[in-house]
Amino acid sequence: MTRRPRRNRKNQTIRNWTQESFLRPQNLIAPLFLLDAEKEEVAIDSLPGCFRHGLSNTLKNIEEHLALGVNSFVLFPVVPENKKDKTGSYSYNPDNFYLKQAAAIKERFPEVVLMSDVALDPYSTDGHDGIVQDGEILNDETLPVLNKMAVAQAQAGFDIIGPSDMMDGRIGTIREALDEANFTNASIMSYCAKYASAFYGPFRDALDSAPKAGDKKTYQMDWSNRREALIEGELDTQEGADFLMVKPALAYLDVIADLKANFEVPIAAYNVSGEYAMLHAAAEKGWLDLEKTMVESLGAIHRAGASIILTYFAKKYARWFKENH
Ligand code: PBG
Repeated sequence: MTRRPRRNRKNQTIRNWTQESFLRPQNLIAPLFLLDAEKEEVAIDSLPGCFRHGLSNTLKNIEEHLALGVNSFVLFPVVPENKKDKTGSYSYNPDNFYLKQAAAIKERFPEVVLMSDVALDPYSTDGHDGIVQDGEILNDETLPVLNKMAVAQAQAGFDIIGPSDMMDGRIGTIREALDEANFTNASIMSYCAKYASAFYGPFRDALDSAPKAGDKKTYQMDWSNRREALIEGELDTQEGADFLMVKPALAYLDVIADLKANFEVPIAAYNVSGEYAMLHAAAEKGWLDLEKTMVESLGAIHRAGASIILTYFAKKYARWFKENH
């Protein structure tokens, strides 16, 4: 045998030389759930270790992330039921606590990067990402609300606008609306290939945002499909997306690799709530090692081609990284 691949695995130093991918905490985005309350903290049963936080706890939490090298956050609002309506009008109301808390975070920590969520579901009495009429989820009619929401978010100081509804024409019209309002510097991360997935369950518990009727299959992608993601990628890049995201991540590594191979913009992946919850559940039973499976999962998502990973593990990964490097 002239070729023995094991020679390149013979000790830790050689293994370090040959390591092909390396995920740093700087490449992680931590999702945070915001509550319209001071100091409040509400645990999320299906997302162990994650909380819905009022502003002061959110600031504390951000500080802990910063100390570990994570400085990017995607914010999601827990909207009180009495603020919801058919058209999600609270989303661009200047009194919206989500916008005010984002501004407060930027004021306290100007160095953080904040990403928003642009979709109707947290604000809608129907729990759908678009306006519902006679059981149909409307595409074009939802656009003006999304435009107003995106501009209000840029105004509040969000660095990255995150349209997450998977309907058509979002990136182009939002880009135009942002530019018209002089927010040419606000980036757009498109939820480019977001699948109608059963792995979002815990997130919908966290926000109380599950659809009241039906499912999201007329707008989110069918998980059987791979090539369709390239159509989405082409449209979104043409429309001006700065980043393309794949969601969920672990069951969609092929899609991450495809987008990486076909588009020049950086690729992000969302390691979603169900992916986080399942490792925790197995670890709780003593069936898996949480830390090791976390490191391997995030590393695999990175290896597949995602340079940016949205994950509830951000703080835990960063702590592991600090202890081991
Ligand atoms: C909704 C949205 C969802 C997630 C992020 N934004 C849920 C959905 O599409 O129903 C899920 C994130 C997760 O599961 O961690 N716009």
